[in-house]
Amino acid sequence: MSRIVVMISGRGSNLHAILLAASQEHWGHAVVGVIADREDAPGIRVGAQAGIEVAVVPRRDYAEVADFERDLSRQLERFEADVVVLAGFMRILGDQLVTHYSGRLLNIHPSLLPAFPGLHTHRRALEAGVLVHGATVHLVTPALDHGPILAQSVVPVRSGDTPETLAARVLETEHRILPRAVSWLADGRIHLPTHPGVGHVEIDGVSARERLLILDH
Ligand code: GAR
Repeated sequence: MSRIVVMISGRGSNLHAILLAASQEHWGHAVVGVIADREDAPGIRVGAQAGIEVAVVPRRDYAEVADFERDLSRQLERFEADVVVLAGFMRILGDQLVTHYSGRLLNIHPSLLPAFPGLHTHRRALEAGVLVHGATVHLVTPALDHGPILAQSVVPVRSGDTPETLAARVLETEHRILPRAVSWLADGRIHLPTHPGVGHVEIDGVSARERLLILDH
């Protein structure tokens, strides 16, 4: 059984999706803690209502980012985290923490990476005129939004979409691909590429097609 810690900054709908999956008997792993970097994050209530301990480490209480990161690390150690999930955690983690949890730290990003890393992905996708958009679950590496890809979802962009309507369509898929990827990582089924320049991750018992969700409405 892996001990999973979920880090959030906001609403917590992806946290909710993970908790729902974790409540299924066959899941076999436990969400042991939530860490929020803002005391007003609505997702704090999502964790608390599920009876999960929530540690709040408000970024604004720290003058130095190094002190903030030290306290994040302490909380992760206190929870004895095996797997760390960034589920709408809107800060870039420092190299030291990322390296410490290398291969055990994943992130969900609301675009089809490597397109649209960074912020405002839905608005930028509409501005670019793409016909498909989506979300990516990837392992976190020091290169922002560029770690090995575990799962992706694809949604159509519709004429008349606004960033909000597009975000809602993508979010629906995030809630499906994130818990799956978390369980693959927690199961220890993920094998990283062994040759430099080869990006494809192998996941035991999971085909490439199963790692791709295509939403067609
Ligand atoms: C999600 O759309 C997630 O992909 C995004 O924040 C949202 C959090 O929603 N993450 C990022 O933009 C990370 N760069 P939630 O709090 O309802 O899960």
